[in-house]
Amino acid sequence: MFQKFIEDFNNYYFYQCYIFFPDPWPKKKHHKRRLVNYEFLKELIFRCSPKGSIIFGTDNYNYFKNVKKCTNILKKHTKILIKHSKKTPTVLTKYHNRAIKLRNEVNFLRIDKI
Ligand SMILES: C[S@@+](CC[C@H](N)C(=O)[O-])C[C@H]1O[C@@H](n2cnc3c(N)ncnc32)[C@H](O)[C@@H]1O
Repeated sequence: MFQKFIEDFNNYYFYQCYIFFPDPWPKKKHHKRRLVNYEFLKELIFRCSPKGSIIFGTDNYNYFKNVKKCTNILKKHTKILIKHSKKTPTVLTKYHNRAIKLRNEVNFLRIDKI
C-alpha cells in the first residue's frame, strides 16, 4: 500500500509519520518482507519536513534492533536525532494492546529531523 502511495505521489512531504507494529515477519528467511528497512527509512527521512518526526514501535525486538541499526547508519549522512523509548507517544493501537495483553516488551524509536 505504501509502495503504491509513493508511486502515485512522487512529490509528497509529511511532518509526522507513525509506524506502529508493522508485520514483524519473525522468521529470518522472511525478514526481507519487512516494511521498515534501510531504503524505506532513507525515503521517509528524505520526505520528512525539518522539525518533523518518524515514530516506529514494535514488540519484536529483532525488528527494533534492525531499525535502530539502520537509523544509526543514516545518521552519519542525514541531520537526525534518534531517541529510544518504551512509552507510546500517542494512542494505544490494537496491536499495542495485544502486546500488553501478551506481556511483550514494546520499544519505540523516535527519529527527529533537525
Ligand atoms: C500487525 S498490523 C498493525 C496494525 C496497527 N498499526 C496497530 O498497531 O494495531 C500490521 C499492519 O501493517 C499493514 N501493512 C503491511 N505492509 C504494509 C505496506 N506495505 N504499506 C502499508 N501498510 C502495510 C498491514 O495491512 C497491517 O494493517
